[in-house]
Amino acid sequence: MKITVVGAGAVGASCAEYIAIKDFASEVVILDIKEGYAEGKAMDLMQTASLMGFDTKITGSTNDYAKTADSHIAVITSGIPRKPGMTREELIGINAGIVKTVSSNLLEHSPNVIIIVVSNPMDTMTYLVHKTTGIPKNRIIGMGGALDSARFKYRLAEAMEAPISDIDGMVIGGHSDTGMVPLTSHATRNSIRVSEFLSEERLQQVSDDTKVGGATLTKLLGTSAWYAPGAAVSSMVQAIACDQKKMFPCSTMLDGEYGLKDICIGVPVILGKDGIEKIIDIPLSDAEKAKMKESADGVSKTNGLLEL
Ligand code: LAC
Repeated sequence: MKITVVGAGAVGASCAEYIAIKDFASEVVILDIKEGYAEGKAMDLMQTASLMGFDTKITGSTNDYAKTADSHIAVITSGIPRKPGMTREELIGINAGIVKTVSSNLLEHSPNVIIIVVSNPMDTMTYLVHKTTGIPKNRIIGMGGALDSARFKYRLAEAMEAPISDIDGMVIGGHSDTGMVPLTSHATRNSIRVSEFLSEERLQQVSDDTKVGGATLTKLLGTSAWYAPGAAVSSMVQAIACDQKKMFPCSTMLDGEYGLKDICIGVPVILGKDGIEKIIDIPLSDAEKAKMKESADGVSKTNGLLEL
């Protein structure tokens, strides 16, 4: 199983590292436009193999897509990350051109590849890949909800002073500071609703902290986060590569589910060998439905900025 990661920046390298450490892929190719950078990251990571105990071969490529040929899965992390105070939406101008070129180059050498989009504004970049490549919708997946849900679980565990493994919860909607919809009413600790442990105000705080999870880190780090994004992508890649049929909220093209059409936005899906194998259309409360509609309106507005 060959996997390509486009972009050797912090998110791309972190993603390649976690994929390698989990040791389910035969090869990970890291590609970047910066001369020698991907080769350097690949070599550095390969020198951790004997220490970390993995056999995955990691290779680097300076913009040579021939080296990515016959990849089963490709992750697009390329583009500029946000700086403190920026929204993900402000990145659209530069990143749209990059994502369009990268997806076309990938498909030239791997016509059957499953594409995972990480570049921001992610839901709009996922929509762009649909509109410009025309490949089947199960093979285009946006990474946002897996990360946002991990941040949600972190905040819930913190609020309840509980171990993270006790917590289950999900964030749907757009991957933006205002668009995320943390499903607090569905979140549980060992199958008991979190509302049994936390006041409405504390739950609201958890929800608010989750939504600005990326912005909080961007402020602290001076650039956007990489460990949790890398780990979230690697879990999605593993679910597909190992045909796990695992459920993650992912950005996917909707055709009537959740009352939405012609939009890519985060909803629960099943990931297996064919990419998105099923969209799970769960019933939402009226308040959650309204938040989802508002989130979709925001994503549609950003989609409107694309020159298709
Ligand atoms: C974040 C970026 C990956 O939320 O969007 O950290």
